[in-house]
Amino acid sequence: MALMKPAVFETSVGRAQHEPSKLRRMRDLPGPRPWPVVGNSLQVSLHRMHQNLAEWAQVHGPMFKVHLGGFRLLVVCDADLIGQLLKDRPDTFRRPSRMQAIMREMGIHDGVFMAEGETWARQRRMVMASFAPHQVRSYFPSLLRVAHRLRERWQVAAERQARGDAGIDLQADLMRFTVDAVAGLAFGTEVDTLGSDGDVIQRHLDKIFPAIWRRAHAIFPYWQFVKLPPDRALDDSVQVVNAAIRRFIDEARERLQEPARRVAPPNLLEAMLVAADEPGSGMTDDDVAGNVFTMLLAGEDTTATSLSWMLDLLWRNPRALRRAREEVDRALGPSTGIGDMANWTAEDLARLDWLEACIHESMRLKPVGPFNVVEALKDAVVGDVVIHAGTPVLMLMRHDTLSEAVFPQADDFLPERWLPEGAELAPAHAKRVSMPFGGGPRICPGRFLALLEIKLAAAMLLRHFDIVGIDTPDGLPPAEHMALTMVPLGLSLRLRERAPQG
Ligand code: HEM
Repeated sequence: MALMKPAVFETSVGRAQHEPSKLRRMRDLPGPRPWPVVGNSLQVSLHRMHQNLAEWAQVHGPMFKVHLGGFRLLVVCDADLIGQLLKDRPDTFRRPSRMQAIMREMGIHDGVFMAEGETWARQRRMVMASFAPHQVRSYFPSLLRVAHRLRERWQVAAERQARGDAGIDLQADLMRFTVDAVAGLAFGTEVDTLGSDGDVIQRHLDKIFPAIWRRAHAIFPYWQFVKLPPDRALDDSVQVVNAAIRRFIDEARERLQEPARRVAPPNLLEAMLVAADEPGSGMTDDDVAGNVFTMLLAGEDTTATSLSWMLDLLWRNPRALRRAREEVDRALGPSTGIGDMANWTAEDLARLDWLEACIHESMRLKPVGPFNVVEALKDAVVGDVVIHAGTPVLMLMRHDTLSEAVFPQADDFLPERWLPEGAELAPAHAKRVSMPFGGGPRICPGRFLALLEIKLAAAMLLRHFDIVGIDTPDGLPPAEHMALTMVPLGLSLRLRERAPQG
């Protein structure tokens, strides 16, 4: 590649076009000094990697290089540049091929999250149609039923706590809520993990993200030679989830015997099956199964974790919690005991501006994906740095969002910055700096569903329960535990049922 001839670079990502002589190469970049063979891998802690990277950004500046898992990565912190990288897909950047290989090896077929090129574009159109805001709103009654089951589960837990039982494992219960919600919307199947304590699918899904994370950062793929107990447990879990997916598909095929359903399939799974049956569709049964797996994985952990972080932040900020509860009481009317949630509508929830601001603020402080990785498909210039095809680019999503220069009082939980009353606390383009759902053509298609789920579960909690406490094992704010998503460790919720008002 000749630096004097910029035309050789297929693409250029960044605000300014740089003169070729001023361009930097990866070798010119600062970065932590790599050790022989292992690079920087032993200088990071697997579950604190996002914090290690943020610390290096303080030392080396907004663009630097690291050697992790056998790759030399370009690290980018600037939100404008990140926005452009995300936009430049699928032509110039893709999701990391390493992650795709790891998931395939585990027995997980590609879905829209891992697909690339034309396959991705075709699947994306279908997924978008099923997750459009009007489609999600039409599903509201089923979502309400799922929230009602969460309420019943927590009523039982509150009674037990009054008799001395321990708090609720918040993250686990919220994952049941999100699995049930996604299965209903995307697959048309009522899965009731909330109502059962048996061998539910959620327990198996929980093992998969951490395993992908561990393998993506392993220095040596030992599991290809010898399987340790966690690897065997993982194989079992993937098998259980795949068997559940086959059941979802069989049930959907059964429902599709009804001709009217084939004309207007009411959910994503049925739409995919109808499409796959078209001659020359290019959509295989594996694509369908891969997308069912994708929705379960992408929709469960992310939404539950975002909810956990928000509830914890509300608990630690009594002023914001009080205002959220007052807003919910006002917007949703008096509680008349069990059954009153049945009257809530999506429009009622749309009026909860403060709660929505709390969601944006908690995702700014605690995004479940504090970094995102893309891989260059061709030689490219990122900012003023030349990279070769195949180079992974790691984007630190929380760098500018925690910058005092961008968000005043950046470390504080101030939901008003997302409302006109607190405009001075956020830049005009705040939503282009804080990107918890990613950006560009691959932005999260489940975001409307996720926001609705979060609002509904939080409103249910605030309306029907007093939060007695959200505890951590050491009494300190929860540790950020990175395992593909950034999870708060050990949150335990203590509740008391509110007396009916009104
Ligand atoms: C608060 C909850 C959620 C968060 C924070 C979240 C976050 C994200 C992020 C950061 C991405 C990558 C975007 C990019 O590369 O630019 C993504 C992609 C994706 N998400 Fe979500 N997500 C959430 C909920 C959901 C839900 C509920 C679903 C569906 C049931 C879902 C399905 C997907 C899919 C299918 C993709 C891949 C899209 C593509 O590659 O075209 N997500 N999400």
